[in-house]
Amino acid sequence: GNNRTFTMIKPDAFAKGNTGAIIQKITNSGFKIVALKLTKLSPERAAEFYAIHKDKSFYNNLIEFMISGPIIAAVLEKKNAVDDFRALIGATNPEDAAEGTIRNLYATNVTNNAIHGSDSDENAAIEIAFHFKEEEIVTY
Ligand code: CMP
Repeated sequence: GNNRTFTMIKPDAFAKGNTGAIIQKITNSGFKIVALKLTKLSPERAAEFYAIHKDKSFYNNLIEFMISGPIIAAVLEKKNAVDDFRALIGATNPEDAAEGTIRNLYATNVTNNAIHGSDSDENAAIEIAFHFKEEEIVTY
């Protein structure tokens, strides 16, 4: 059956006006949006979301970037959602992202890389719960 993944359209893509095109590409690729919001991460919330990266060299740049402007957070459903969504967005570094992927089309660099996708079913569940109450996720 279907399962869920979590995505964020990051501040760079939002600021460039690419939100609509990215959402169109996501829905055209067979993902069903079951929750969606515009929000802005506080420094504390960004640090919590990216706690796993706190010892990385890019951590401070990542937090500064992710709090720099609004993001669009969403929950998506599809068969094989996590892996299919990671294929749709492409490699973390846009220089390595396959032709036609969201990062190939819209990312600026390895930090300002336009979009996030959960890397496992387990992390998808954690990330969904971080951003959405269960009653904000729509059944249809
Ligand atoms: P994402 O995979 O969504 O979540 C972790 C983020 O850290 C990643 O997207 C990039 O925005 C950033 N990131 C990951 N690897 C690097 C890197 N090598 N250099 C700079 N930023 C990175």
